[in-house]
Order: sequence, then C-alpha cells, then structure tokens
Amino acid sequence: MPRLIIISNRLPVTIDKKEGELFYHPSAGGLATGLNSLETDMEKLWIGWPGQEINDEAIQGQITKDLRKDGLVPVFLSQKEIELYYEGFSNETIWPHFHYFTQYTTYNDDYWKSYQDVNRKFADIVIANIQEDDFVWVHDYQLMLLPAMIREAFPSISIGYFLHIPFPSYEIFRILPWREAILDGLLGADQIGFHTFDYMRHFLSAVYRIGGHEHNFGKLTINNRLVNIDVFPMGIDYDKYAYPERIAGKEMVDSQVAKFRSKKRKLIISIDRLDYSKGIPQRILSFERFIKENPQYRGKVTLMLIVVPSRTHVDQYQELKDEIDTLVGRIDGEYRTFGWSPIQYFYRSFPFGELGAMYKAADIAMITPLRDGMNLVAKEFIASKEESKKGVLILSEMAGAANELTDAIIVNPQDSKDMVNAILKALEMPEEEQASRLQKMQDRLKIYTVKHWAKTFMNEQMNLKELKDLKKTKILKKGKTDALIADYKAAKKRLILLDYDGTLMGFQNDPKKVVPDQSLLDILEKLKNTEGNKVVIISGRDKHTLDAWLGHLNLDMAAEHGVWIKRRNEWKTPDVSNAWKKDVRHVLESLVERTPGSFIEEKDYSIAWHYRMIDKGLGEKRVREFRDVLLYLTANLDLQVLEGNKVVEIKNAGINKGKATAYWLMKDDYDFMMAIGDDSTDEDTFKALPEEAYTIKVGLDKTAARFNLLDVKNVRELLLEITS
Ligand code: UDP
Ligand code: G6P
Repeated sequence: MPRLIIISNRLPVTIDKKEGELFYHPSAGGLATGLNSLETDMEKLWIGWPGQEINDEAIQGQITKDLRKDGLVPVFLSQKEIELYYEGFSNETIWPHFHYFTQYTTYNDDYWKSYQDVNRKFADIVIANIQEDDFVWVHDYQLMLLPAMIREAFPSISIGYFLHIPFPSYEIFRILPWREAILDGLLGADQIGFHTFDYMRHFLSAVYRIGGHEHNFGKLTINNRLVNIDVFPMGIDYDKYAYPERIAGKEMVDSQVAKFRSKKRKLIISIDRLDYSKGIPQRILSFERFIKENPQYRGKVTLMLIVVPSRTHVDQYQELKDEIDTLVGRIDGEYRTFGWSPIQYFYRSFPFGELGAMYKAADIAMITPLRDGMNLVAKEFIASKEESKKGVLILSEMAGAANELTDAIIVNPQDSKDMVNAILKALEMPEEEQASRLQKMQDRLKIYTVKHWAKTFMNEQMNLKELKDLKKTKILKKGKTDALIADYKAAKKRLILLDYDGTLMGFQNDPKKVVPDQSLLDILEKLKNTEGNKVVIISGRDKHTLDAWLGHLNLDMAAEHGVWIKRRNEWKTPDVSNAWKKDVRHVLESLVERTPGSFIEEKDYSIAWHYRMIDKGLGEKRVREFRDVLLYLTANLDLQVLEGNKVVEIKNAGINKGKATAYWLMKDDYDFMMAIGDDSTDEDTFKALPEEAYTIKVGLDKTAARFNLLDVKNVRELLLEITS
C-alpha cells in the first residue's frame, strides 16, 4: 500500500531537555498545528527535526524509538546546522525576503552552503525511508531543494511540495543570488501548491523569467516532466475550535471563558508568534491611538496581547521583543488606572484548552500581519463563534486568509487611521451584522477544512501520477516502436505527413535561420525514395521558403497551413481572395512600431506577427489588443486567427492542415498512414486521419494524437529507424 510521507523542517512535537529528562510538547506555528490535525486513510510517516540539539547517540536512539510509535522520524541537527541552516538561511534569508522584509535579508554563503547540506541530510533520511509507490509531500521554505534531491534518487516517485509562506513578486525574488538553484530544487516536484493565486502567479512569473519555462494554465513541462502549479488554501480542523470542550473538557473551558470575559469591558485578542511579519508594534500603536482619540472607551476595552516565543536566537526577533516590551510598558504606564490596564501582555504559549476559551471569550480579534502566508489564528477565531454567533474579526489585507475571509473588517496594517476606524466599527457593530458576517465565513470554513485541503492536494497529485503513467504508455521510445515498424514494413502504400518547425527542426529566434541540415535532407531523401512512400511536408511556412529549402527533393508539400498544395511538382491554390491583407498589414505595422523585437511575416494568402523575442506577457497583451481591432476590420470577411507558438497568423477561414490532409487522402488509398507534428495547427492533421493512422505529437501537451515523441531528436531517430 502506498504511504503518505510528510517532510517538514519541524516535527509536530518539540523536545525539551530538563535536568536530563526528555519532555515532548506540541510545536508552535501554522504548519505543525494545521498538518497535525490531519487524518488520512493512508499510513502516514512524518520526517522532521524535533527542535532541539541532541548530540548524545544513546538519547538520539531513545528519541527515535519514542517517536517511531507515532509515525515520526527525527532528523537531528547539530548546533552549527541550527545556526547556519535554520536560524541562518531559513530565518535570516528566506523568511524575511519572502515576507518583503528585504532590509533584513542576510546574504551569506556559509548559510547557503549549510542550507544545501542540511537539505541533503534530509534527502538521505527520506531516501532511506521511502518506496517507489509512496506519495511524498515536502513542506515549506526550509526544504526547497529537497524535491529535486529526492527526484534524483527516485525518478518516477510522486512528489508534492507546499509553500506555507508567501512567494514574493519576481522583482523581490530575483534579488536572491541563489534564485536558480531554489527554483530547480522546487521543480523536482510533480505538484507545487500555494495558499493564494497571487503567490502562484509570482512563482510562475519567476519560473518564466529566470528559467524560461512557459506554463499552460499552471502546467509546466520541465525536462519532459509535467509539473502542476496550483492554489490550495489551507484550512483548519473546524470542530476542534468550534467545540474546544470536546477535547479540553466542558468544565475547564467554561471556567476559563468566565475568567476572561468581563461584563464591564470588551475584550480584543491578538495572538501571534513573535515575528516582525505579524505587525505587532503597528497593532499596539493603533490601539494606543484608538484609546487616545476615543476617551469614552478608556476602561471599557482591553487588548489581550499574546505573543508566542519564536526563533529567539535570531537578532531581529530579540530586537522586536524589546520593542514590544517597551511599547506595552509605556502605554500601560500612561493609560493604566486602578481598575484597568489597557493591554494585558503575555509572552508565552497557551495550551489548547485555554486558547480555545480565549477565542470564545473575545469580542474582537485583531489579526493584522504586515505579511502572512495564510494565518490560521484568524480562521480559528471565526470557528470559535460557531455557537455564540457573536464576535468581529479585524483582518489585514496582507494575510493570505483575507482572500477567503472577505466578511471580516479588512484593514491595511500600515494605515493606523484605518485600523482605529476598524476598532471603532468592530466595537459598535450590531449583533445581527456580526452574526450574518460570521455565518458566511463559517459556512466556508466548515467545507474548506484542513482535511479538505490535504485531500484536494493529494487527489490532484494522484491524478497527476495516473496521467503520468498513462502518458508513459503513449511515448514512443526505443523498443516501443515495434508495432509501428512492423506495420510500416508490411504496407504497400504509405502516406507520411510531416510538419517542419518544431518537428523536423528545432526553433530559433529568427525563423529564416531554420535551414535544413544535411542529415535531415538525407533522412527525407531516403524516406521519399523508398518504394510505396508518399511523403508530404505539411507546414505553415510560405511556399517560396519550402521550395528553396526542400524543393530539390521533389516532395509533395502543403504551405501556409494548406493554402498552397504542391503535387507532381506543381503548386495549386484554391480560389481565395487576399485583398484583406493590406488593412491587416497596417494594423500589424503599428503593432511592430510599439513592440520592438517583434516582426511581420507576409505570405501569399496569410500574414503573421511573430513575438518570439519579446516578453511573453507583453506579446499576449498585444495579441488581445490586435484581436479586437481585427474583429472590427474583418467583421464581414471570412478570416481566421491562428495562435501558434509565439506567433499569430491571420488567414482565410476554412483552410487548415486538416483540409490539406483530406486532399491527399482523396487522391489515393493507403495501408499505412503516419503524421507527426508539434503544435496546435497539427491537431487538424491528426483529426483528419482515420483512427488506425499513427498520429504522433511532439511534446507532452494535450493532443488528439495517439502517440507522443519527446523532441525533434526522437522524431529523426524514428524516421531513421523505419527507413533502415
Ligand atoms: N497557537 C498555539 N498556541 C498558542 C498560540 C497559538 O498552538 O499559544 C497556534 C494557533 O492555534 C495556530 C498556530 O499556532 O494554529 C499559528 O498559526 P498561524 O498560521 O496563525 O501563524 P504561523 O505561526 O504559522 O506564522
Ligand atoms: C511558520 C512556518 C513554519 C514554521 C512555523 C514556526 O508557520 O511556515 O514552517 O514551522 O512558522 O516557526 P519555527 O521556526 O519555530 O519552526
């Protein structure tokens, strides 16, 4: 049975050593708390760091044994590795950088070296623990090199990767000196998931601009391997926070709720790990401004500020701690009365029962990070109001959760006026409005739970695996061509239709440079001279170019996607008008003027605009603009617009490679038919041929063809094989 192998830097349990004794307690942070509440039908193995430096081998052995019972496998890190890989590259380079705190990004080659080494260390342990049919799921920014490392050892295994933090805009990401290696590491996965569409968009843009890989609706083809990029917003275990008493006991939760709740005052809670990305000082200052500008609320509202210790050895975290301590002290000193302190500050974590009670007791939650991948606290607060239907969430628009919790009061955490207004609005919101906003958000969170998140991610990954297995059976590799060759040999009359660019020859920026080489000419000549063969070059190129390059071979040809047909050395064309070209050329010329690097190719009965050398996004924008003008110009002309590989072509409707194919089919009967082509225009050829024909698509994109070949090299090998 395949198992689910989860790999994250931190295990869901952290070890504490006190006076020689070992204690295990739950880890903090959204990844550990979220994933830990996941139940699956698959056997689960979780590999990660237990959060403490443990050097003694006997103790390591004991821990390994203890954890194994719960399906956990520890990766022990030395003090040096903790400093350089965890505190260093993970939390002083990637964390600040990906959260747009570039002023905190540390560029240190020793950190990077250790990051590579520790990813390798994880990889070795993973490799020793997995089998080919397992589903591997790697998590978060500490392990971005791991997918490619696992792929190296298990080329066919199914690997998923999920990033729990934002993926920054390309303009930020490009600054990292290690950007290529990071992308290469991630792209070892079959599927990469993000919390929001924006993170996915940024990632795809980085992959395109840095690696040159284009995507098709989020699907990338990397070394002939499909990689699916998609959005999977992580949810929570809804019932756990809606009914904390089911876990912590009714008496305990009720007494805690009573303790936190006060008839005299409203309670605002704020819960985060101590992290500069969470915007804690900005939140405190906004609260101060609120009590300053709204004296009527003094004594009537308290901010309960819970800050969970995190990454305490990293300088910026220590500085932030000092900043918060100072701020809270100053504000408390200034506004405190005998019966009221404006801020109740806790610098520690709370066990689940107390946390659940706090959520229940609070009137308002203020969750206002400057950047946050998702933020589960916001979702947990909403769930805790399942029964009461009373409570207001103030949520930063910079949190991933803001994409889903649109009925919260959404704020910009840097805009203190906006934050003050939000507090006022929350305090004064009528109960019916609170209930209706909560209901909408709860309805959503109940469906999109953490279980749903993992299930949809895994289902997608499984579908990809099936697709991959299926595709594998369609790929014509050496040793898999026996049936084709036997049919070819047995046949008396054969029709062989070959596209030119992308099929017989690779692409170049300048289409004029794609002159056939001698070895291609030899192959075509041999193919043509074999008795019984009718070889047709079926291309989008103009007839002059085809004649100049291949004319001496006396092959049949279709030029301009079938506008021109050459048979018995004579070109013919259907009777179509091309008077429309003049107007279209004007439009295309203005396009070229505004888009340096693009150019026009004019053929007898069509005209094309090439944008191979310009930014793809700009090219596509221009195509859209152009389509609108074209629609207007050609409203009563029978034209069609073909979108090829970085080229758009305008030509008379009703002419395509399929029609051209039918022309040869009509002229004769064949007992072997084969067509090879690489782009969307070749699909018409495939569809025009009978079912038993060998239709072969170059590349792995969606196709009507029966088989695939990976690239031009493979096409030539096949043609050589059949003629030998
Ligand atoms: N949390 C906890 N104990 C506490 C405070 C918070 O276990 O005392 C949990 C909280 O319930 C949530 C997680 O810590 O599940 C924080 O996740 P979030 O996504 O909000 O932020 P992250 O720490 O991942 O940046
Ligand atoms: C965030 C990260 C997690 C991390 C957690 C706690 O949620 O996405 O990967 O585990 O913070 O941080 P820590 O450094 O203590 O693991």
